[in-house]
Amino acid sequence: MCGIVGYIGNKQAQDIVIGGLRKLEYRGYDSAGVAVVNENGLDYSKAQGRLAVLESRLESKPLTGSMGIGHTRWATHGKPSDENSHPHTDEKAAFAVVHNGIIENFLPLKEELLAKGYKFTSETDTEVIAHLLADMYDGDIVSTARRAVQRMRGAYALGIMTEHEPDKLVAIRLASPLVVGVGQGESFIGSDIPAILEHTRDVYILNEGEMAVLTRDGVELMNAETGEKIERELFHVEWDLVQAEKGGYDSFMLKEMHEQPQAVRDTMGARIDEENKRVILPELKMSDAELATYDRIYIVACGTSMHAGLVGKDVIEKWTRVPVEVAVASEFRYRDPIYTDKTLMIVISQSGETADTLAALREAKKSNVKVLAITNVVGSSVAREADEVIFTWAGPEVAVASTKAYTSQVVALYLFSLYLAQVKGTMAAAEVAEVVEHLSEIPGKIASMLNNDDQIRRFAEGTKEVSSLFFIGRSLDYAVSLEGSLKLKEISYIHSEAYPAGELKHGTLALIEDNVPVVALATQPDIYEKTVSNIVEVKARGAHVLGFATEGNHDLAKSVDEVIYMPATLPMLTPILTVIPLQLLAYYASVARGLDVDKPRNLAKSVTVE
Ligand code: F6R
Repeated sequence: MCGIVGYIGNKQAQDIVIGGLRKLEYRGYDSAGVAVVNENGLDYSKAQGRLAVLESRLESKPLTGSMGIGHTRWATHGKPSDENSHPHTDEKAAFAVVHNGIIENFLPLKEELLAKGYKFTSETDTEVIAHLLADMYDGDIVSTARRAVQRMRGAYALGIMTEHEPDKLVAIRLASPLVVGVGQGESFIGSDIPAILEHTRDVYILNEGEMAVLTRDGVELMNAETGEKIERELFHVEWDLVQAEKGGYDSFMLKEMHEQPQAVRDTMGARIDEENKRVILPELKMSDAELATYDRIYIVACGTSMHAGLVGKDVIEKWTRVPVEVAVASEFRYRDPIYTDKTLMIVISQSGETADTLAALREAKKSNVKVLAITNVVGSSVAREADEVIFTWAGPEVAVASTKAYTSQVVALYLFSLYLAQVKGTMAAAEVAEVVEHLSEIPGKIASMLNNDDQIRRFAEGTKEVSSLFFIGRSLDYAVSLEGSLKLKEISYIHSEAYPAGELKHGTLALIEDNVPVVALATQPDIYEKTVSNIVEVKARGAHVLGFATEGNHDLAKSVDEVIYMPATLPMLTPILTVIPLQLLAYYASVARGLDVDKPRNLAKSVTVE
């Protein structure tokens, strides 16, 4: 989840590297650093804190040189500090390394190097690489780097340079993402496309175990282990950089919430056959006959993506009668799951790089289980390794708190469920058509909720002094409550829990006392009365209850302090609407507390380590 940028060309590397790091800061931000090579050798600067700290240091003491690497860090080995920041160098500062990922065997390597007399200045696994390179250097950084990575176990993306060879920059990928850009007389490294997009749209996306040697004349790709050359066409990126900027909003999160109508519309896009009111999924490579054979589904994901999966479970089970189990990827990867040849695995990942999700995918593939990915990033590891992919077309999501990715994932799951129902014949054409009709109205309904946020804003502002907040709901309302609670914790730091409403009296009710805020979702008609009776229980203990009901429900207001009304839609589609005010609640609670909405403490956007 750290960010890497590299440059070789004829311009000042510092400016290009810092510009790239700015675009990547969301990947990790407890420290940053940059190193350059110039005619006097290698020079570097690094600082704990946001990129701005490094920038002000560079202002007073700039680095000159036309080859450089830089890094924004999210601490794994070693606390955030100047010493633990990247780039790391060897003792003589002749080799510099930036690294994203983890070197699992860094301790034995470190002991070996310590025994040889190397002195370490940081607690990181990365510093080992710099010393190892210095120790193994044979006059050729390419062959040295290849031999060095053969000694390293783990998941990493590396940018490497040495003052001994001022015309060569090396990039290596094992498990962590890395792209290489090609320009006129210059080449770039980025852990993500936006980092280099300002300078070039022609990129190579490195695959596992690949290495790139960048010079001012171009880029050569090779297999890092065998050294065998790799020929590959350049990938031309069509994205607009403006998409990744705030576009007039105060924060990326607010902008991204407001992009939801578009994200949902785009994700439905050409997958809805308007004329016949049915779903088409042309991207699926497997035949309908094969899809129809699956009789058990695992949905595996982390965090918000897992919460989207919980909505998917109810929907798939209801519409197709195929049993679905939703699992947290970090748990699932170490389980001994029961697979049959009729088991389908769905992995959901916005970034497509989440380490645990990727590991679960790989485990399943080892057992020959077919894996379908729902992801937002073309070219991501998940997208490339899964057998089948349904992309969410949410566009780049920068805020750490996921919003438009979640709603797009839920839409992708609706589409998949409907398609499966069509294939299995579990829904009549008229039923599918009714859902499709309602789905096409969802973007407009999301927009109207986003534009009418006064009530939720006032409620959120009222939580400024609150220390704990509860969400309750049943069935799909419970699934959405979990997401509302995660969002609130994540960006407002208010302690919060989501409970199945019927479960409260088995323990949690003890926490309800005067004025404890409770958000009660009561949008599901089949269990509406049951939910209301649970609401009455918390109300009787003094809770201040904000209820969520569907437009036209005049009953809930009698049992709660205030009500937010959802535009009417089919009950199965309500989650995609209910989540909107919950996102807004988290957002305004965070703003009311003066917090950094886009960059909550201790979190990173893309979690590429276990
Ligand atoms: C919370 C959030 C995280 C991610 C999780 C998985 O707002 O964004 O919980 O959902 O880290 O990330 P992806 O979807 O990229 O695999």
